[in-house]
Amino acid sequence: MTRNELIAAARAAAANAHAPYSRFGVGAALLLADGTVVTGCNFENASYGLSLCAETVALAKANSEGRLRDVVEVAVIGGAMAEGGLSGTSPVSPCGRCRQVLNEAAQLGGRDLIVHCAAAEGDAVATYRLSDLLPHAFGPADLGFG
Ligand code: THU
Repeated sequence: MTRNELIAAARAAAANAHAPYSRFGVGAALLLADGTVVTGCNFENASYGLSLCAETVALAKANSEGRLRDVVEVAVIGGAMAEGGLSGTSPVSPCGRCRQVLNEAAQLGGRDLIVHCAAAEGDAVATYRLSDLLPHAFGPADLGFG
């Protein structure tokens, strides 16, 4: 699975975003150690604060399949909903809460995740290590897990 294939999976998931309030669709794809890909998209709610980000949805799916420890790499993509698809040329970076949720998978799996941030339009991709996006993280290890 190449970086661009993982981004393509995130893009396909973004097409299912339920984001009528922000009109900003996001897709995430998790690459697991055995090559399996688990995707998610944002899931908004009329009670706005209940909304879930794409990354968190994907991680909850991986967890529900017993695969939280197996996450190796992540791709995130998103943009404003426009006629004919998503628009915008700025790579979407995981929000603070999603970084913390990603850290749960990273620490349990004993890996520093690779995170690809892509834009709806254009080829710009920013790739980070989760430890750079969330330095000095608090996580399972602090509670004796992982
Ligand atoms: N969103 C995500 O799904 N992931 C992020 O990391 C950033 C923000 C969603 C939440 C909300 O549905 C919309 O983007 C606008 O904030």
